[in-house]
Amino acid sequence: MFKFRFAEDAADIDEVDSEQKDKLEWISASKLEITPEQIEAKCEAYYYTETEVLSGCNLKLIRTDKVTQDLTDQNCQNIIEAESKHSDLIPAKYEGGLKIWECTFDLGQYILEKEIELKDKLVMDLGCGVGVIGLLSLRKNSTVHFQDYNAEVLKSVTIPNVILNFDHTIVLTRCEFYAGDWASLATLLDENKKYDYIFTSETIYNPDNHKKLYEIFKRKLKTDGVVFVAGKIYYFGVGGGMRQFENLILKDGCFDVESVWKSQHGVNREILKFTRKPHQEYHTSSV
Ligand SMILES: C[S@@+](CC[C@H](N)C(=O)[O-])C[C@H]1O[C@@H](n2cnc3c(N)ncnc32)[C@H](O)[C@@H]1O
Repeated sequence: MFKFRFAEDAADIDEVDSEQKDKLEWISASKLEITPEQIEAKCEAYYYTETEVLSGCNLKLIRTDKVTQDLTDQNCQNIIEAESKHSDLIPAKYEGGLKIWECTFDLGQYILEKEIELKDKLVMDLGCGVGVIGLLSLRKNSTVHFQDYNAEVLKSVTIPNVILNFDHTIVLTRCEFYAGDWASLATLLDENKKYDYIFTSETIYNPDNHKKLYEIFKRKLKTDGVVFVAGKIYYFGVGGGMRQFENLILKDGCFDVESVWKSQHGVNREILKFTRKPHQEYHTSSV
């Protein structure tokens, strides 16, 4: 069964959580510019694989085992700490973006099967990690903003993945990249731009981040925009889950929610679709 590799012992996690939660220092959001060196860099064949990530959708993807090794060699402390603890994430330090999580495949397949029209749409892949959903959206001719907590993930994996799969014009004109915490992201983003689609996969595991995530939907989604949240129904050992996140949003009364897909086998997974109720433009959240 899938589970987070948070630590060896769930009891240890709880103890650490309650003692250290308040002391966590979340990195502020920032925009990353693509450098000419990144654009021109030649990616050696051994450093990426080409696979059918979603049915009918082949992508070239940077090998994250190589990146993990390189970041370790470069003394990147967040990754070293995660690796030494055999952990998928270290709250506020490394949030899991170096691997592709299960629900990305659910959401990607859903987008393809429902033939969601993304041409000329503005899309946010929120908590993108490797960036599969954003890459799929670019394939469908949208403009994509990729966001990941860790700048090192964006620089070493997400941006190279975009460069591997698309020509330079697309990379420079139809992509933006944002690092850092959701709490400060909305104020950093262009206030005149709102999203047609916000896609977010496996981002609701930590209940302490639910309000931050929801505020982005509220502030940055177009009136007729749609948010798709893919995730596990419950994240054992961590506490977050779909019902908790859904309830927080329903309580605020601005969005309608619909469960559009559920897994039949294995760990329970789901995709929720959020749309604004009529006349519910942004106002400060009461949740
Ligand atoms: C478990 S990973 C999922 C990655 C990817 N969406 C997937 O499904 O493969 C969680 C993602 O959410 C982002 N994330 C988690 N907490 C965050 C926070 N407080 N602020 C910004 N990003 C955050 C991480 O950077 C990471 O990309």
